[in-house]
Amino acid sequence: MKSVAFTKMEDGTIEDYSFLAKHEKEFILDLPNRIISSLEKLKDSFSGYKIDRLEHSLQTATRALRDKADIDWVVSALIHDIGDDLAPLNHDTLAASVVAPYVREECTWVIKHHGIFQLKYYGDKIGLNPEERQKFKNHPYYKSAVKFCEKWDQKSFDPNYDTLPLDYFKPMIIEVFSREAWVTN
Ligand SMILES: [Fe+2]
Ligand SMILES: [Fe+2]
Repeated sequence: MKSVAFTKMEDGTIEDYSFLAKHEKEFILDLPNRIISSLEKLKDSFSGYKIDRLEHSLQTATRALRDKADIDWVVSALIHDIGDDLAPLNHDTLAASVVAPYVREECTWVIKHHGIFQLKYYGDKIGLNPEERQKFKNHPYYKSAVKFCEKWDQKSFDPNYDTLPLDYFKPMIIEVFSREAWVTN
């Protein structure tokens, strides 16, 4: 079988769907390579900062690593702006969805909300509330999000920082995105 016979999903057979499931499994196995390609594309994402979006991502992950954060944090930091291209108005939600099946809930929550927490550093300059994060002040991951933005994300726009290259992080990307997914939605 090279492809299914049906043209409407309702007509598919058990054999069709087991054939598709096998294909999907193989496709998922290649996810680390697609993550790496998406990160490389950030090099050509929107500009204006002193460094490009890939460099910013690498710098954020490098700072996490040097703060002895664990692999879930480092990889989350690396992909936290991966949604820039396709979801410029809700890039944090897109990145959180990408990483959610593979890292612990705390990291996913922080990535999902980092846009709001990051407002602390520039909201007042663009007419938005820098304290928008306060609506989460009783959330168990509030402090983690504060730390993510303060120590790693908001300061990672420095062309003179000794940022580690993408190659350094590839084994971590492969490890995390090859894990058994623990949540799928
Ligand atoms: Fe961001
Ligand atoms: Fe960022």
